[in-house]
Amino acid sequence: MQIFAHRGSSARAPENTLAALRLAIADGADGAEIDVQVTRDNEVVLVHDADLLRTTGDPRPACGCSAEAIAALDAGSWFGPAFKGERIPTLTEALEAAGDRLRLNIELKPAPGRLDLGDRVAAILKEAGATGRCIVSSFDAAVLQRFRDVCPTVPAGRILAGDSAGLDPTDAGFVSVEHTAIDAALVKAAAARGIGVHAWTVNDPRRALVLASFGVACVMTDDPAALRAGMAKGRP
Ligand code: G3P
Ligand code: MG
Repeated sequence: MQIFAHRGSSARAPENTLAALRLAIADGADGAEIDVQVTRDNEVVLVHDADLLRTTGDPRPACGCSAEAIAALDAGSWFGPAFKGERIPTLTEALEAAGDRLRLNIELKPAPGRLDLGDRVAAILKEAGATGRCIVSSFDAAVLQRFRDVCPTVPAGRILAGDSAGLDPTDAGFVSVEHTAIDAALVKAAAARGIGVHAWTVNDPRRALVLASFGVACVMTDDPAALRAGMAKGRP
């Protein structure tokens, strides 16, 4: 079972920053999940929330800002003084930081009406030569379809929250499921169709071991080093 750092190693570095990706590499994670949005001028940047307030103090949404304005924000101080001046990276910068040491699960978080996020991410992956080391996921079926249309070689999976976990006919490759909704039957049904189940967000090593016993392909965790160490201790 692969271990991916959720928003990078976000328990010990500010989420969705290069510091969090570098820590994920140091932690020995197999990959990292990141959240991406499009700026007013069509750059793709790593941001989770609907606005920038929580991580930078700026109340605007990413889609209302230029890439230049976003690059000037401090996305590290909210987490701790050691990370003062940490920036919001572009997807291109994240791909460079990940290199061939970290696979990326790129979660598309389109602002309303910005399905072009799918096209932009596809173009950036192709330009970076990174289509073979990334997967794409989203809660938003429309943007996921848009991405699949322009980049069919990159696995693109639906994200399912706990109350709506179940496969549908469009699923292929993988689904990304809130871990509380995963049981052995779901993983078995997915496997019968050649679909891998990825689990978010798993910080309890005992739960990770249970998910591994079901045949889950990947767990996303905020602290890959701690999860791996806990799983090693918990194994019989
Ligand atoms: O990609 C899975 C997970 O990250 C979805 O939830 O809110 O953390 O983006 P969220
Ligand atoms: Mg996410």
